[in-house]
Amino acid sequence: MRKIAVINQKGGSGKTTTVVNIGAFLAQKGKKVLLIDLDPQSHTTIHLGFEPPEIKNSVYEILIKKIPAKEVLLPTYEKNLFIAPANIELASAEIELVNEIGREIILRDALKKSKVDFDYILIDCPPSLGLLTLNALTTADEIFIPIQAEFFALEGLTKLMQTIDIVKNRLNRGIEITGIIITMYDARKNICRDVADKVKGHFKNKIFKTKIRENVRLAEAPGFGKTIKDFAPGSHGEEDYRRLAAEILRQEKSK
Ligand SMILES: Nc1ncnc2c1ncn2[C@@H]1O[C@H](COP(=O)(O)OP(=O)(O)OP(=O)(O)O)[C@@H](O)[C@H]1O
Ligand SMILES: [Mg+2]
Repeated sequence: MRKIAVINQKGGSGKTTTVVNIGAFLAQKGKKVLLIDLDPQSHTTIHLGFEPPEIKNSVYEILIKKIPAKEVLLPTYEKNLFIAPANIELASAEIELVNEIGREIILRDALKKSKVDFDYILIDCPPSLGLLTLNALTTADEIFIPIQAEFFALEGLTKLMQTIDIVKNRLNRGIEITGIIITMYDARKNICRDVADKVKGHFKNKIFKTKIRENVRLAEAPGFGKTIKDFAPGSHGEEDYRRLAAEILRQEKSK
C-alpha cells in the first residue's frame, strides 16, 4: 500500500486536480485507490460529483466523532476509485482537536484500526500547514508536492521543507518526498521555464518528468463532476495526467 500526501500550503498549486486525476488513472490501471479529502473546501469531493452538504459521514466524523473510517468511505462513479469525503464541518476540526492528546495522528490510527486496505491512498491537503495537513503527513509514507510554474511558486517552499523535516524528526521517520510535480506549465512563457529550472536545481531527481501543462479542460472538469479521463479524452490535461500516473506506477519497481 502506497500512502501519499499531496501537499503545498500555497493555494491553487494543483493539489486537488492532481489527486483526482492521478487517482482516476491509477484506478483505471486496476489499482484500488482511496482519495482522502482533508480540505474543508471539499474540492476533491465536489470534483467527483458529490454534494458536500448531503454527505452524512465525512472525514470530520472520523477525526472528531471517531466513527470507524470504513463507514465513511464511498465508492465513486469510477471503478476502483473510492473517497473519504469532506464537507465544511471539517473547518472547525483543527480547533476542536486542539486539546486532544495525539491529535497529529488521529487519521493514521483510524485507518489502521479500521484495517483500511488499498493499493494507493492519496490525501488532498488544505492550503495550510495546520493540524489537518499534519494528520496527512503522519498517515503517509510519501509526499508529492505540486508546484505551479509561476513567479510566487518558490516562496513558501522553505517553510514547507522545514515542516516536513520537523515531522520526519518527531512524528514519522519514514516519510519521504518522492515526487515534485510542475503544474500549469506553459512552455511559451519564460517564467514557466525559469521556475521549472529553479525547481529542478533544488529537487533534482525527485521531479517527475511529466509536466502538467496549463489546460482549460482541467479547470472545467470539476464543474461537471468528472475526472479529466472521462471529461476530455485527448486533451493535454488528459494526456499529461495519464503519463504522470504511468510514472507513478513505474516508481513501484524502484521501491
Ligand atoms: N494544469 C492546469 N491548467 C489549467 N487550470 C488548472 C490546472 N490545474 C489546475 N487548474 C485549475 O486551477 C485552480 C487551482 O487548482 P487546484 O484546485 O487543483 O489547486 P489546489 O492546490 O488544490 O488549490 P487549494 O489550495 O485551494 O486547495 C482550479 O481552478 C483548477 O481547476
Ligand atoms: Mg485543493
